[in-house]
Amino acid sequence: MASDIHVTRIDPDDDAAAELVLDLDELVWSASGRVPRVAALRDTPRRAGFVATRDGEPAGIAGSWDVELSVPATQGDASLRPAEGLTWVGVHPDHRRAGVLSALMRHHLRWTREEQGRSIAVLKASEPGIYGRFGYGVASSELMSSFGRGTKFAAPQAVRGLARATTLRTTTASPDQGERWHTLARECGSTGPGHLVRSAEDSRRLLADTPESRGEREPARLLWATRDGRDVGVAYFHRTPTWDAGSAAGKVGVFFLLSVDAGARLALAERLVDLDLMGSTEYWVAPDDVLALWQPSLRSMSVSGVTDNLWVRLVDVPTAVAERGHAVDVDVVVRVRDEILTDQAGTWRWSAGGGVGELSRTDVEPDITLDIGDLGAVWLGGQSLAARAAAGHVTGDPGAIARLDLALRTPIGPVGTIDF
Ligand SMILES: CC(C)(COP(=O)(O)OP(=O)(O)OC[C@H]1O[C@@H](n2cnc3c(N)ncnc32)[C@H](O)[C@@H]1OP(=O)(O)O)[C@@H](O)C(=O)NCCC(=O)NCCS
Repeated sequence: MASDIHVTRIDPDDDAAAELVLDLDELVWSASGRVPRVAALRDTPRRAGFVATRDGEPAGIAGSWDVELSVPATQGDASLRPAEGLTWVGVHPDHRRAGVLSALMRHHLRWTREEQGRSIAVLKASEPGIYGRFGYGVASSELMSSFGRGTKFAAPQAVRGLARATTLRTTTASPDQGERWHTLARECGSTGPGHLVRSAEDSRRLLADTPESRGEREPARLLWATRDGRDVGVAYFHRTPTWDAGSAAGKVGVFFLLSVDAGARLALAERLVDLDLMGSTEYWVAPDDVLALWQPSLRSMSVSGVTDNLWVRLVDVPTAVAERGHAVDVDVVVRVRDEILTDQAGTWRWSAGGGVGELSRTDVEPDITLDIGDLGAVWLGGQSLAARAAAGHVTGDPGAIARLDLALRTPIGPVGTIDF
């Protein structure tokens, strides 16, 4: 007999429901339980927490953060759009592989569009094989990099001049810097696609680095970069001191590094790779990051691998098209497959003029056929439709695919985002 699965959103003020979400999360993620309850509850996504029951038993959870995503605009820059950041996905071990996650995913996608009025959902995946089936595509990737102590960045003089004019100050992360960080993160959002900005409230929460939640490591630090009296960058990092055969070989872990220009990025990076008693600095960069381009080659960054960063799911394609910049005019007919949000599946005429795109329904034969996940994959400029056509995911007239690729192209690839 098929199980009876129901998904409900918890009342944000319901403490018992928040406790239930936390209990299930700790079970799924093998939490040690050392984080005091009050701190763990503070980080529980109450704003939008979802509980799935299976045959009456609590079986799964999910949460959603209020985020903004920077999508390509018309002049090679980017603009922030409201999105929902799926998080805290977990299914009770006794209820795995019975469709609980699938029910949560369907619920979240509809909720994002119909109740939140947002056109995009995003997530970061614990494992690569889970989310493609729900219409998500890998929109950005990162190089898992480690910079040795004293790494040199071959930045040109103009950039170096900006870096020299930048002042750096180290502080200990604290919630009262959340507003400042949020303002800067929003400003960075217009510099290129792929930035994910947490809400002001979540930014404060993110910077509340309590002794209980950090275990043995030092308090998280914020390195602020200012120039002419304004914030131009910030890095969030912590150090782990270690010794190797009598020599200091500590590790610096950089969680995020935001900058409004290359000069601020250079100033921050040069400080982060030259901290006393440290041997290396781990920071995962996108392939187009200036830090990578100031190296002779990617090999110089001790890249230990590549990983998917942000996964994007379009839940309202006409709105998403209207909200995203187009680099050139285009007029093609696209058939979209979407097995979950079936009302946005079907054939659309996709036109753009003066940078602004529009979808309208049509009955004519499509030039291009693709899955909703293919659009998520190309949305931030991290992949091309032609590459996905070469892999057989996208089919149709190569000329039409090339024209749509030109319209969707971005001068620079998406940045990596913070975790959420
Ligand atoms: C991953 C997880 C949420 C899956 O939940 P679930 O309720 O068992 O998933 P469902 O039964 O709805 O499975 C839906 C489909 O996804 C597949 N699937 C589920 N987990 C998968 C995984 N880790 N890798 C690949 N495929 C997976 C299922 O086989 C099923 O495929 P099918 O439709 O072809 O039959 C659950 O195993 C879990 O809680 N894992 C630990 C926490 C975690 O990784 N959470 C994700 C955070 S980003």
